[in-house]
Amino acid sequence: MKLFIDTANLDEIREINSWGVLAGVTTNPSLIAKEKRDFKATVTEIAGLVDGPISAEVVSLTSEEMVAEAMPLTAIHPNIVIKVPMTAEGLKATSMFREKGIKTNVTLVFSAAQALLAAKAGAAYVSPFLGRLDDIGHDGMDLIREIVTIFDAHLIETEIIAASIRRVTHVTEAAAAGAHISTIPYSVFQQMVKHPLTDAGIERFLKDWESAVK
Ligand code: E4P
Repeated sequence: MKLFIDTANLDEIREINSWGVLAGVTTNPSLIAKEKRDFKATVTEIAGLVDGPISAEVVSLTSEEMVAEAMPLTAIHPNIVIKVPMTAEGLKATSMFREKGIKTNVTLVFSAAQALLAAKAGAAYVSPFLGRLDDIGHDGMDLIREIVTIFDAHLIETEIIAASIRRVTHVTEAAAAGAHISTIPYSVFQQMVKHPLTDAGIERFLKDWESAVK
């Protein structure tokens, strides 16, 4: 499984990238708005930091407008992936992008039927939202498993991005289920690296070392 970071914050991207684990970045309009910076400038800087797919989302609602909005973004860097919403217009745009050789990430996927449509329209990536399904009392991981089963059965090459990750077990369970990618918030990366027994172990080793060398 590849690990992406789900943020538009440059410091967070720099830090996780320095761990040597990062394969890409996803952003969305809410994450961009949080940074209070120019959208295009932010995406340009991210593309300069991380050597992997960088998802930049369009906010237009018609396919023609989505394509027009995306063109200046695709000019930023060959790694830019256009994120489009899972709607009929988003599917039309996805198929137009495919004809132009532009990769898309179909976002806001909440059912296997939506994921199948997105793949058939030519999406390079689909993003099922685990956390938001959990929030309304569903099991987001069931959706990941269902999409993996369908894509495997039909040799569909669209990559599944486990999105709306809220906790460490979302990442490990999505990996076990066969999702190709998890896009992970900075806070969850920080939780992933930690274990109380690791901290206690370091403390004990240092204490023993100091008493032995004194
Ligand atoms: C996916 O690409 C989205 O940016 C993201 O994972 C949404 O997560 P949220 O439900 O925590 O906003």
